[in-house]
Amino acid sequence: MCYSLDIRNRTAERTNKMKLKQLESLLGNLQQFHNPKIELEQYPTGAHIASRMLYTAENSFDDVCGKVVADFGCGCGTLGLAATLLDAEHVIGIDVDDESLEIASVNADELEVELELIQSEIKNLPWRGLSHHLSNLLSIIFVASQAVYSLHKTSTREHIKRAALRDYNASSAEVLCELRYDLPKLYKFHKKKDVDIAVDLWRFVPKANQES
Ligand SMILES: C[S@@+](CC[C@H](N)C(=O)[O-])C[C@H]1O[C@@H](n2cnc3c(N)ncnc32)[C@H](O)[C@@H]1O
Repeated sequence: MCYSLDIRNRTAERTNKMKLKQLESLLGNLQQFHNPKIELEQYPTGAHIASRMLYTAENSFDDVCGKVVADFGCGCGTLGLAATLLDAEHVIGIDVDDESLEIASVNADELEVELELIQSEIKNLPWRGLSHHLSNLLSIIFVASQAVYSLHKTSTREHIKRAALRDYNASSAEVLCELRYDLPKLYKFHKKKDVDIAVDLWRFVPKANQES
């Protein structure tokens, strides 16, 4: 459940906006990693979480519609595509893995939306190398120097807050809601059929963009 939706939802002002359930249903039809690569930590964000992540960014903070959005480590494009469906002005998906980008491109065609895809290795991506430091960052999306949204295990909440404010130049670091990240059995070392992990949806604001 996304608690922030109850508190801050401004949907009433936006009658022409896509409904949350409609967004979730469209994202639920997307193709995901065909051959997930553990070394790239390829876990797809499910439609339930992805829809709430972007819906909250839009309806609580006006961070999507008309904005430029970058989806770092976009995989098969779920988060970026959710942004296009909520009328982001331009969405760029960046990933190191060609195979995932091809799937993202097919997904964009299926939805008949524009998604610019860039194959590039992102240095200093918090979940690569720094993952012990920033603790299991699962997905991240960046809104035109306005805010960064990411998902982290709830168990690491205090650590994330300290690191964001102290080491990552954030002026604010806010947990918007708690969600359940449903991780399907993708790799051989996974013992259970699926695992439900408690995650926080974070919104970080960079210092230069601190609102007065
Ligand atoms: C946890 S998955 C998230 C995928 C997608 N954002 C989603 O929400 O479904 C991480 C993604 O980051 C990509 N990735 C990992 N390391 C990367 C790097 N150094 N540069 C660019 N992409 C990277 C992987 O290929 C994978 O698609």
